[in-house]
Amino acid sequence: MEPLAAFRALGTEEGRQDPYPLYEAIRAHGDLVPVKPGTFVAVGYRECARILRDPRLQVQDGTAFDRIYPDWRAHSSVRAFTDSMLYSNPPVHGRQRGTVNTEFTPQQVARLRPVIVETVAGLLDRVDDLGAGGSAVDLMDEFATRLPIAVVSAMLGFDEDRVTWFRDLATAIAVATDGFGDADALATADAAMDELAEHFEGLIARKRGCPAGDIVSSLVGLHDADSARLSHQELIGNMMLLLTAGFETTAFLTGDGALMAIANPGYAARLRTDDAFTERYVEEVLRVEPPVHVTSRWATEDLVMFGTRIPAGARVVVVLAAGNRDPRRYPDPGRFDPSRVRSQPLSFGGGIHFCLGAALARLEARIALPMLFRRFPGIALAGTATYRDRWVIRGLRTLPVTTGAEA
Ligand code: HEM
Repeated sequence: MEPLAAFRALGTEEGRQDPYPLYEAIRAHGDLVPVKPGTFVAVGYRECARILRDPRLQVQDGTAFDRIYPDWRAHSSVRAFTDSMLYSNPPVHGRQRGTVNTEFTPQQVARLRPVIVETVAGLLDRVDDLGAGGSAVDLMDEFATRLPIAVVSAMLGFDEDRVTWFRDLATAIAVATDGFGDADALATADAAMDELAEHFEGLIARKRGCPAGDIVSSLVGLHDADSARLSHQELIGNMMLLLTAGFETTAFLTGDGALMAIANPGYAARLRTDDAFTERYVEEVLRVEPPVHVTSRWATEDLVMFGTRIPAGARVVVVLAAGNRDPRRYPDPGRFDPSRVRSQPLSFGGGIHFCLGAALARLEARIALPMLFRRFPGIALAGTATYRDRWVIRGLRTLPVTTGAEA
């Protein structure tokens, strides 16, 4: 298959259901492949890692959006993210990331363990009730999507009783990260963003009057002390980013991790008791089924990488999920093998935009999976697990199970 045909197929429903053969079709032409004028696709581990660290390749900020999607300002769901660190380049990026990065270090995140354990326990109680008498429970809906929203809401200082409301709005907004193809989905994302932004304005006003020890209070304090450090739009944009960036991604990690161990009871048994295994298991889930399949960078100047000439203005599509299955880096790359050590998948990106929430996501999964399998040793699939019809952020839509618990 020609690289352009494979690349285009990734945008189809069939391609989204199983993109891996299409990555291999592109890899057959090289590790950094020109697919059409001005567009290159990186599928090699080394190539993806280097591109993410090269300052000559930058993320799509407003200027890049102007070129590819001149209408973007009409969409609040897109606009909010362009005010966040994820869509900013130096020096703005470093200034924004510096306002929150100390909250997300592994040491700081480790202090959240009791909150995560308590949240998981509460959710499992609910799953237990719902599954009584052999009823099927959707683990995505009742567990995996609720956990990250509850945890990040506690960190940010959001109202606890609005967790499912945040989750549903964040789900609608997430489609904005998957390109601009679907006008209806984008309109829904814009409406959700407007609703959330209005809520955030109220929250900011409340925190201003009565700061608590949470991230939003601290960001409001920073903005009020010096708006050049963090503007109002940046404050809202980064609140939005923190709510959404760790939501579906972490839910998909937990969901895929649960599915693989339900299908392989040997893994479930080790997850119950073996912390070292659990760490490697979570890394292998991240490698084989990364929640973020792809990101992009734009060349700010003419450059040559790995012998390929990339002109200024070109887009380089960085397929993290393909890099994670590069046979030069991982023997038998398609095989799920939790015994791999220091696997270092590309799943959290690399360079200055390396995922701020990596330690948090890992901790949530390392706590949630053992607790799930300890609580429900008899858990079993109660139907077919289905994937969402999306490419960029990919994961399970439903995971129906019976818990095996007594009525
Ligand atoms: C950035 C993946 C969880 C917050 C990123 C990037 C990736 C990623 C690949 C880099 C994107 C790029 O370079 O274009 C994931 C995965 C997660 C996860 C797979 C779960 C398994 C979280 C969590 C949070 C979070 C829990 C926080 C609550 C962020 C932020 C950025 C980011 C703020 C932007 C960092 C920057 O631009 O400097 N994430 N993420 N993520 N992630 Fe995560």
